[in-house]
Amino acid sequence: MEVLELNDTAITILRDMYVHNEDANKIAAKFDIDAEVLQKDIYDLKVDLGKKGFNLNSDLVLDVTESIDDLSKVWTPTTPIIHIIQNCNSPCIMCDCWKTRHKVSHSLNALKPLFTDLADRGVHSLMISGGEPLMHPECRQIVQFVKSLGVRVELNTNGILLHKNMWVIEEDIDEIVVSMDATNRENYKLIRGADKFDLVWKNIQRIKETKPSQSIGARVTLTKDFLRDLQGSISHLLEKGVNFVGFSPLDQFSTSFSRSDNSVTNGTKLGEKLLPVEAELKAIRGELNEPTSKISCAVKTFYDRQEISWNVRNFVDCIDLYLGENNPKLRSADLCKFPFISLVLDYDGELKCCFYSKSFGNIYNYDQIDWTAKNTVADLHNSGKCRSCRGKVFCG
Ligand SMILES: C[S@@+](CC[C@H](N)C(=O)[O-])C[C@H]1O[C@@H](n2cnc3c(N)ncnc32)[C@H](O)[C@@H]1O
Ligand code: SF4
Ligand code: SF4
Repeated sequence: MEVLELNDTAITILRDMYVHNEDANKIAAKFDIDAEVLQKDIYDLKVDLGKKGFNLNSDLVLDVTESIDDLSKVWTPTTPIIHIIQNCNSPCIMCDCWKTRHKVSHSLNALKPLFTDLADRGVHSLMISGGEPLMHPECRQIVQFVKSLGVRVELNTNGILLHKNMWVIEEDIDEIVVSMDATNRENYKLIRGADKFDLVWKNIQRIKETKPSQSIGARVTLTKDFLRDLQGSISHLLEKGVNFVGFSPLDQFSTSFSRSDNSVTNGTKLGEKLLPVEAELKAIRGELNEPTSKISCAVKTFYDRQEISWNVRNFVDCIDLYLGENNPKLRSADLCKFPFISLVLDYDGELKCCFYSKSFGNIYNYDQIDWTAKNTVADLHNSGKCRSCRGKVFCG
């Protein structure tokens, strides 16, 4: 084992942050440093260490492997993403799950060994997603089973069926994450294909009225409606009662999200429909890059209050991604943090290190799963898939 030495200040900061779970703002104030810079530096340090095969555990011991030939040794699981069903009831423009003809889902029985295994491996939270998870006949039982393992549940839904599934407030769901990418009916319909904006908001309000303590997050795939008035759009969601707004960059060019056509032509068309034009993107980025501008101050405030998932840097990186800019972080062939902290269960039962990786096993052939994920990680390294990947925007 190799030992790395950190200086006293670094150790105090890391201990406050990861052992005592102290608020980053408080720690930053103690050392008279900028909280956003501190969070980013620590995050970068963790990612760098993870990529080099080090794991910073809660005793601040750095375990080391020579290279990542066994991902399971450095895996620090936060929230694996579990697609329980592929079918869906919303004809969204950027996702083809709704086009799935036959019923494609994983039964609770098929999922149980994975859930139990993940709990044993230290997972403290699972994101139950789809397709539309509320269309799964056993969705409630799946939630109950995960909770029975002492694991947190985040339920990612389009919100359309919530009024028919008010059981969600009887189960101890830690966060109901509703996709809400627009601030008005027109833009919602452009993205989601269906005129369900008012229904989804009614459903959110129904839950909040019946169970005010229920945490509801909004998940925003960042498109032109939002970007044009970032501050107003975020405020709008928070004022309407969601507790947290999480962002995700639009995936234009992959076969993820069940898309069969990953041609450049198709991806470009999607961008033309959903994203601001180049000049507008550059203007928004210019404002974000100006530390005293209204928008960068507003984003900083939302972020410091822990109301949104992204800091100013994430928004700038996302715009760089949309512009295809030569941003060193995006351009690098290094993996992002995702494979080190999460995983994806796909519709066909394949387990993947991230949305874009090859599989390292299948839940329908459980004994053959290679938890070291050696070949999958090597392929990510060698294939160049990580270059200009949207994962870099939200996951380091
Ligand atoms: C696939 S959906 C499944 C859960 C649920 N049906 C929903 O829409 O929230 C999970 C998330 O992926 C997002 N998504 C779908 N297509 C996307 C794309 N092309 N790029 C980025 N995010 C996308 C959705 O907006 C949603 O927030
Ligand atoms: S984004 Fe969600 S709601 Fe839209 S088609 Fe995909 S799975 Fe369905
Ligand atoms: S392909 Fe993308 S999401 Fe996967 S590890 Fe690479 S950068 Fe991350």
